[in-house]
Amino acid sequence: MEPYTRHVLVCTGGYCSRDRGGRAIYARLAQLLEREGLLFGPTRVKRSEAPCLGVCEGGPIVVVYPEGVWYADVTPELLERIVVEHLKGGKEVTEAIFHRLA
Ligand code: FES
Repeated sequence: MEPYTRHVLVCTGGYCSRDRGGRAIYARLAQLLEREGLLFGPTRVKRSEAPCLGVCEGGPIVVVYPEGVWYADVTPELLERIVVEHLKGGKEVTEAIFHRLA
């Protein structure tokens, strides 16, 4: 497997967001990673969907590792900022973070 620098988990379950809104976020994430050149090479980002991340409110929920940063209420606009500012630029979108691994 080609190594990657970050792993993004998106909850696509039915409890944290209405109409399982994480599914659209997960699909959009693939488009944004491709657009920003983050699917291959030294800055490669792996994305995965999860049926539940244990939060079950305030979603869609998106988690970025290795930072262990958890984002809530991820709209398409916020997702774009996460991809461009955090995944590509290395600067977390701090105002949207609700949890961070210790
Ligand atoms: S259903 Fe999304 S966190 Fe549980």
